[in-house]
Amino acid sequence: MKSGYYFYTLSLLTCLASSLPAEDVYNANTDAWKRATPQASNGYAPAKVDCPSARPSIRVASGLSDQETSWLEKRKANTFTPMRELLTRLNITGFDAGKYMDDHRDNTTALPNVAIAFSGGGYRAMTNGAGGLAAFDSRTPNSTNTGQIGGLLQASTYISGLSGGGWLVGSIYTNNFTSVQNILNQGKDGDLWQLGNSILEGPKTGGIQLLSTVQYYENLYDTAISKQDAGFDFNVSLTDYWGRALAFQLVNATEGGPAYTFSSIQDDPDFKNANAPMPILVADERAPGDKLISLNTTVFEFNPWEMGSFDPTLYGFAPVKHIGSNFTGGSLPDNEPCIAGFDNVGFVMGTSSSLFNQIILNLDTVTGVPDIVKNALKGVLNGIGSDNNDIADYTPNPFYHFNNRSNPSAQTKRLTLVDGGEDLQNLPLNPLIQPVRAVDVIFAVDSSGDTLPPLTSAQNWPNGTALVATYERSTNASMQNGTAFPSIPDQNTFVNLGLNNRPTFFGCDASNLTGPAPLIVYLPNSPYVYNSNTSTYQMDYNNTERNAMIQNGYDIVTQGNGTRDSQWPTCVGCAILSRSFNRTGTTVPDVCQQCFKKYCWDGTVNSTTPAPYFPQMILQAVKVTSGVDRFIPNILSVAFAAAVSGFLMI
Ligand SMILES: *[C@@H]1O[C@H](CO)[C@@H](O)[C@H](O)[C@H]1NC(C)=O
Ligand SMILES: *[C@@H]1O[C@H](CO)[C@@H](O)[C@H](O)[C@H]1NC(C)=O
Ligand SMILES: *[C@@H]1O[C@H](CO)[C@@H](O)[C@H](O)[C@H]1NC(C)=O
Ligand SMILES: *[C@@H]1O[C@H](CO)[C@@H](O)[C@H](O)[C@H]1NC(C)=O
Ligand SMILES: *[C@@H]1O[C@H](CO)[C@@H](O)[C@H](O)[C@H]1NC(C)=O
Ligand SMILES: *[C@@H]1O[C@H](CO)[C@@H](O)[C@H](O)[C@H]1NC(C)=O
Ligand SMILES: *[C@@H]1O[C@H](CO)[C@@H](O)[C@H](O)[C@H]1NC(C)=O
Ligand SMILES: *[C@@H]1O[C@H](CO)[C@@H](O)[C@H](O)[C@H]1NC(C)=O
Ligand SMILES: *[C@@H]1O[C@H](CO)[C@@H](O)[C@H](O)[C@H]1NC(C)=O
Ligand SMILES: *[C@@H]1O[C@H](CO)[C@@H](O)[C@H](O)[C@H]1NC(C)=O
Ligand SMILES: *[C@@H]1O[C@H](CO)[C@@H](O)[C@H](O)[C@H]1NC(C)=O
Ligand SMILES: *[C@@H]1O[C@H](CO)[C@@H](O)[C@H](O)[C@H]1NC(C)=O
Repeated sequence: MKSGYYFYTLSLLTCLASSLPAEDVYNANTDAWKRATPQASNGYAPAKVDCPSARPSIRVASGLSDQETSWLEKRKANTFTPMRELLTRLNITGFDAGKYMDDHRDNTTALPNVAIAFSGGGYRAMTNGAGGLAAFDSRTPNSTNTGQIGGLLQASTYISGLSGGGWLVGSIYTNNFTSVQNILNQGKDGDLWQLGNSILEGPKTGGIQLLSTVQYYENLYDTAISKQDAGFDFNVSLTDYWGRALAFQLVNATEGGPAYTFSSIQDDPDFKNANAPMPILVADERAPGDKLISLNTTVFEFNPWEMGSFDPTLYGFAPVKHIGSNFTGGSLPDNEPCIAGFDNVGFVMGTSSSLFNQIILNLDTVTGVPDIVKNALKGVLNGIGSDNNDIADYTPNPFYHFNNRSNPSAQTKRLTLVDGGEDLQNLPLNPLIQPVRAVDVIFAVDSSGDTLPPLTSAQNWPNGTALVATYERSTNASMQNGTAFPSIPDQNTFVNLGLNNRPTFFGCDASNLTGPAPLIVYLPNSPYVYNSNTSTYQMDYNNTERNAMIQNGYDIVTQGNGTRDSQWPTCVGCAILSRSFNRTGTTVPDVCQQCFKKYCWDGTVNSTTPAPYFPQMILQAVKVTSGVDRFIPNILSVAFAAAVSGFLMI
């Protein structure tokens, strides 16, 4: 299998000038505590705050955080009723789901522990994933009808996202756990997910956004520079600009909410009361100049309380609210101030998707970008080098002198993270396979663009590469650190057996695993009603196409609301219950045996070179063409794709 080598060719920055006038930092109001909130005290710029009574410190990753542990108590209780309703509705003939749930009510560890994962893949992954999320969400109208699986979200404990999948998860959580349906209901006048307004041009004017393209760039610049000028030697990277730009599309607040922090999710009433699953975003560690391979990359997670890694290399977590402080050897010396506001939501989402940083370098396709902005970006690149334009800079490294024995960046004050898919593990599974989290089943929506163009195959469909990468890593003695993963066949087998064209379960037989591992419900992007294999680098979608992508995603996870297989909802129920059946010694109902026979990969391998993959539309295609041209020509994606060469599958 190919490793993830990335070759970037950047060419587009030519303009030059010099001095950068200091701008006043943007001051956000801090009185709105209603959702992921503008909790940073100085807008985008991280700032000194009063230290909490227990001084922040780095902890060893030998278990869950105390916060997660106590939150889980509440979450387990809150998933009971939605799970009972869902399993009762899923028509598991010959099995009394309500009674089963009630019988184990006092012992929640016996009951299923469900997680959902959304892969990377740019806006393709965000919109395809959004369709899946809408189908899982009981708040979506009709999602709890016969043939559907709404309520799975409400029954879940964890939800992870990476890169484009991280935009989806991050956007939902920074907006008060809103629903996909709510976002769509805003129509063309809404401020969120208006993907026809290219991220290079900035938002449309109107609504809460009142900026012209020039003002938009000035705003990106001012906020980024405010971090640089905050007085603590923070390094601004392209990810600061990229994250700020993303926030304009993903955060429902004036100017993309420069003061909204990822850690503020911990105070969001819905999340705090465990009315929503725990969100996790994933990124990879990569030192400047290094190449990533899945076998030895340290995988980072960001959750509402912490950032860090369970991997044996780092094996530690920092309180995400206070990153930016000068931790040394796991503690914050008495003479060092507590910093807050470093964990801006856009910056965290931008880190997970930093492969797209270079979008922001395509400035020559946009008129009106002030020279000062071009120069600032040029300056950033001069500092770190074009080959490292995808880096997100987390100086000061919270893990400085922490775990010196194996932490790859223990000796450096700079911690650099990149796009979570760069190690080929394009599904954010690492946090979900940690034994301490005891996840039973992962619904993995894979929108990766693996298949290669153009003559031999249709491009941008998944072919199992993400699962293969996680599987291979789990067999590596020095990296797996107690994690196990179901056996996964090679990509040729995926294509030959059609495992990338319909849902497939991996790891059904819990006795055939190298350790406790969840069952994987693999939900690969495939064409139900729309050819959803759009380019990873297509950076604008009109709302018709966006909605078609979302609808297709909905049909992928429901198999067209059971049209492709009327037994599918039952099989979803069986997948949820499988590990729980083992734990409680319950006889597997006949219908579930049928489901497992139908959907479990049985170990068959066919590694011969497959025929070219051109999937057929599974249901009746929806119409997106209107005769009207795209209202913004897609020069951007062309320019962007041209600026990037090499191996790209995210
Ligand atoms: C957040 O969502 C909850 C419902 O889940 C709602 O009661 C509350 O008003 C919302 N808050 C804001 C600020 O929109
Ligand atoms: C429930 O499943 C049984 C087969 O086990 C099937 O005969 C019946 O039609 C299904 N009911 C619904 C409402 O889908
Ligand atoms: C709870 O359920 C688990 C799994 O079924 C079982 O191992 C454990 O003994 C049960 N605990 C109690 C207190 O019943
Ligand atoms: C929900 O289902 C009803 C009845 O089938 C249908 O009329 C309605 O359009 C559906 N609503 C949505 C939002 O799909
Ligand atoms: C965005 O914020 C506005 C104003 O606070 C609110 O009315 C709207 O419902 C929000 N949109 C979503 C999708 O949550
Ligand atoms: C951390 O220490 C460096 C000196 O090593 C100093 O320049 C910087 O301002 C400090 N940062 C914070 C947040 O205190
Ligand atoms: C991972 O392995 C590759 C190839 O052996 C090596 O170049 C790279 O430095 C290693 N990375 C880390 C973080 O150990
Ligand atoms: C995981 O890695 C850490 C740090 O290297 C080590 O202390 C721990 O024992 C490992 N855990 C397992 C289960 O191997
Ligand atoms: C699967 O995807 C990988 C990554 O793009 C590619 O190298 C490989 O050729 C693909 N294999 C098949 C059978 O599609
Ligand atoms: C499935 O149901 C959803 C929600 O009602 C709807 O949007 C979608 O079009 C339906 N799909 C099919 C194939 O009927
Ligand atoms: C069972 O385990 C063996 C050994 O790890 C593996 O080769 C095989 O593919 C597994 N079977 C299934 C169905 O996962
Ligand atoms: C929206 O985009 C699709 C796909 O590119 C295109 O076919 C359609 O004509 C566009 N619609 C409008 C109104 O621009």
